[in-house]
Amino acid sequence: MKVLAIMGSPRKGKNNDMLLDTILNSIKQQEASVEITKLYVSDLAIAPCLACDACTRRAGCVQKDGMAELYQHFDSADIILMTSPMYFNSISGQLKAIIDRNQAIWSSKYVLKQSLIDKSKPRVGYFIITAGAEEHPYGLQAVTPILDLFFKSINTVYMDNYFVNGVDERPAFQRAEVLQDMEGLGREILNYYRRLAGWL
Ligand SMILES: Cc1cc2nc3c(=O)[nH]c(=O)nc-3n(C[C@H](O)[C@H](O)[C@H](O)COP(=O)(O)O)c2cc1C
Repeated sequence: MKVLAIMGSPRKGKNNDMLLDTILNSIKQQEASVEITKLYVSDLAIAPCLACDACTRRAGCVQKDGMAELYQHFDSADIILMTSPMYFNSISGQLKAIIDRNQAIWSSKYVLKQSLIDKSKPRVGYFIITAGAEEHPYGLQAVTPILDLFFKSINTVYMDNYFVNGVDERPAFQRAEVLQDMEGLGREILNYYRRLAGWL
């Protein structure tokens, strides 16, 4: 089983990073043979989409950077975990650039009608988001439609989100209840995948 984890904050070793590690450890504890690929958006340095439209004529993206490898990871992953800090009620720019570059995948599926991502295999996606403020009048209104379309484009079932607020004053990784939730989530996501794949 392959797990792809994308750490969407430019800050290593902080909230997103530590929450992701807690889930990954929980998954590893239950499924020792799991193959985990953890990637940091700040290391990937993915360029934004140029809207050149080339992907509507020929499958794939004309820009040559780490995105080609990411497309392969999306294809081969069974579970995809994405995290992001909330920035201006949305997600980090680094993560948005990755999602926008999925236009090439979207085009392969909806324009060229030959998805670059295997449609026949079960894949589960889960999204974790942290926010500095305690109150959020708009909640995840600007966030979930982005993730929904992204997961659809890569033929992945969008299982759910986990939203932690107030992390600037009360770091998520110092909150026992949040860490406990992350451990539980590791189990839940794995079980969800197993059910989807007919393993249970
Ligand atoms: C550019 C920027 C925009 C931000 N916008 C918001 C926001 O709209 N709402 C909010 O609650 N926090 C906002 N924050 C705070 C971050 O969400 C918070 O610091 C982050 O979740 C911490 O995650 P990390 O420790 O993994 O980097 C913003 C921070 C930055 C740097």
